[in-house]
Amino acid sequence: MLTQEKVLEILHSIEDPFLHKTLEETGGVEEIKIKEEKNHVSVKILIAKTNTAEQMELQQTIVNALKSGGAATVGLRFDQLPEDVISKFQPAAEQQKEASLLDGNAGTKFISIASGKGGVGKSTVTVNLAVALTRLGKKVGIIDADIYGFSVPDMMGVEERPVVRGEKIIPVERFGVKVVSMGFFVEDNSPIIWRGPMLGKMLTSFFKEVEWGDLDYLLLDLPPGTGDVALDVHSMLPSSKEIIVTTPHPTAAFVAARAGQMALKTDHEILGVVENMAYFESNETGNKEFVFGRGGGVKLAEQLQTAVLGHIPLQQPYEEEDVFAPSVYQSDHPTGVIYRNMAAKIIDKY
Ligand SMILES: Nc1ncnc2c1ncn2[C@@H]1O[C@H](COP(=O)(O)OP(=O)(O)O)[C@@H](O)[C@H]1O
Ligand SMILES: [Mg+2]
Repeated sequence: MLTQEKVLEILHSIEDPFLHKTLEETGGVEEIKIKEEKNHVSVKILIAKTNTAEQMELQQTIVNALKSGGAATVGLRFDQLPEDVISKFQPAAEQQKEASLLDGNAGTKFISIASGKGGVGKSTVTVNLAVALTRLGKKVGIIDADIYGFSVPDMMGVEERPVVRGEKIIPVERFGVKVVSMGFFVEDNSPIIWRGPMLGKMLTSFFKEVEWGDLDYLLLDLPPGTGDVALDVHSMLPSSKEIIVTTPHPTAAFVAARAGQMALKTDHEILGVVENMAYFESNETGNKEFVFGRGGGVKLAEQLQTAVLGHIPLQQPYEEEDVFAPSVYQSDHPTGVIYRNMAAKIIDKY
């Protein structure tokens, strides 16, 4: 049977997930009630931020701790700590986070590639812009942050896995681009069940635990839409700029606008719009057909008050016998040339 004192002792050793101080230090244990006949413990906890993924994780920690302490059932409520307590502990913790993200990446420019929905070519654009920037002499990395649909390694034909040196992960290099992908940490292409807190943690470790070296640009292939990871990136990388990918189809442009609006709301400047699958050009007649409609990219750019960086036709890279990279356009391929022009525009702007 748990006593009031024992419950308090257990709770006091647990940390506030945002302030990284124990609940004893923050005064975060607001209330403890014990129903002896049912061996039910209910507690009210104050933390710095409520209704977050971290809260869900903390909930699990507390329930487990109290149950292993002897409680049959646990009731748990959260509320926010008073502002003065939060600000007393916060500055140090926040500074630490910013510093570690940008550790060794002080001069790196971040570019997030976003889209409204999947299948519009976001990863293809990420990979080819990275390669094109490298061809123009820039040092470039990619974080494949599309945790549900990681595809960058396959698109680039990456077969090796990153090695760990000391406490750092060494990214895999392909066509001069350094790549880290969730796909590297998954066996047999099996699906991962993601829970809230894991997303942010994965991103943090991709920044902190990867030996990126000196980079000019770090491109992030975001998951489509305006979900958790996109939001995490926005809040973790206040300095990132964005590229929005769409097809010319009005519906695609419409949902892409939402991703763009989110960027603007979080003060991320939009570098431009890439209109992918813009048309099909016949090899035989040179005739252009606008298979997915026309004008989506321009309309989106107007809406977001930015420019179209390029219109990319439907076309596969040349097939090569000795190099396998199914989605990388060669530098002398017409699409490769379009990517080179886009990369040059990006270097001009950012
Ligand atoms: N311009 C293009 N021409 C031909 N195929 C393309 C083009 N852009 C993308 N694709 C193909 O379309 C599919 C979806 O592209 P992908 O980059 O995976 O989209 P997303 O990352 O937005 O889900 C892939 O099979 C890719 O090879
Ligand atoms: Mg993708």
